[in-house]
Amino acid sequence: MTLTVTEAGLSFTNPAAYADEDRLHEALALLRRADPVHWVEAPDYEPFWAVTRHADIMEIERNNTLFLNAPRPLLATADMDAQAKQREAEGTALRTLIHMDDPQHKVVRAIGAGWFRPRAMRAMEERVAELARQYVDRMAELGGQGDFVTQVAVHYPLYVILSLLGLPESDFPRLLKLTQEMFGGGDEELRRGETPEELMQTLLDFFAYFQDLTTARRATPTDDLASEIANARVDGEYLSDFDTASYYVIIATAGHDTTSSTIAGGLHALIQHPAELARLRDNLNLLPTAADEMIRWVTPVKEFMRTAAADTEVGGVPVKQGQAVLLSYPSANRDEDVFDDPFRFDVGRDPNRHLAFGFGVHLCLGAALARMETRAFLAGRPEWTATTFVGGLKHLPIRYTLKG
Ligand code: HEM
Repeated sequence: MTLTVTEAGLSFTNPAAYADEDRLHEALALLRRADPVHWVEAPDYEPFWAVTRHADIMEIERNNTLFLNAPRPLLATADMDAQAKQREAEGTALRTLIHMDDPQHKVVRAIGAGWFRPRAMRAMEERVAELARQYVDRMAELGGQGDFVTQVAVHYPLYVILSLLGLPESDFPRLLKLTQEMFGGGDEELRRGETPEELMQTLLDFFAYFQDLTTARRATPTDDLASEIANARVDGEYLSDFDTASYYVIIATAGHDTTSSTIAGGLHALIQHPAELARLRDNLNLLPTAADEMIRWVTPVKEFMRTAAADTEVGGVPVKQGQAVLLSYPSANRDEDVFDDPFRFDVGRDPNRHLAFGFGVHLCLGAALARMETRAFLAGRPEWTATTFVGGLKHLPIRYTLKG
């Protein structure tokens, strides 16, 4: 059955469409070709423009005074947008970097930025390599068979971030449980309970943990990102408790699912493309390009949004002040105008101008860390050969042999 442009546009508001990769990419390719700046009116959502071409997305992100993150940085239902507006009016809205625009964004981003620069990354390299080794060893302990997602991929990136924040290893299991309960969302295996009260309790536990952390780091600063955030001053004042906790939350969450999906999806891609796996195994100089290709291939962040501050146009299409544009990163990363043979998984792809980390002033703060984690994991045991696999990426049961 062939899709119409209108049906293709409804993919963005349909979580099931993202679960069917082939169908999703069919829809995105159609939009890029036939209506690259496409008006979407979907039930339960405020309307928006879906932008699917790489060049248009870059242009929007480059122009951060015309296209703002506030008030609608992410796609949410009309109800959720209305609740966010309400919380904004009451002063209780979550305010993380992705909710902010300049000048505030610049000041707040600078607080944590030093910990993601090359020097800090070099200092993290050993710890990341050690954690990668631990998890590859865990694969060996599992005896050549296991669920890669639940036993390996979800732990490793969270533990890297918690190390960067400077949290004690004894707290890791508790934080893993809390992040899973908070973001398991509709997933019955992960969420704590059914009711909003139970979810609220998880949120409160999260905030209580970070509140204690702030108090401890203000009393005794240590050399880590948590102390940097707890002790930062803007106009001479500490960030409010709420803003401090929001900062920890964005760091702890932005780098978790994204990197674990990349590693699990990247491994899946290597298993599906044995010639590419062999090519990487035979030439470890390809680790950096292989890591970036895995990130392009998986593109774990599906969208961010911007809102036009004035009447303008995108790709020749008029966009009115106050209208929102959705930036489709999976689409940008398969754009035939930018990538040779975009549907080929190529561990040596160079150049690879993917937009999986976004672009411009909001460019992913953790991009260098995510690349390093992905490389370190591959380097942990480049000789592995997976012999069979089944399954989607909530679980990735694999059978493998580790050599070397
Ligand atoms: C493969 C893994 C990752 C992907 C694909 C990814 C993707 C993204 C994207 C698309 C954005 C928005 C960029 C934009 O609006 O232009 C973003 C922002 C952000 N990411 Fe990541 N991310 C990853 C890993 C991480 C890690 C490991 C961390 C930190 C530990 C992190 C922290 C952040 C933060 C703090 C922001 C907000 C930056 C801002 O608004 O100024 N991310 N990320």
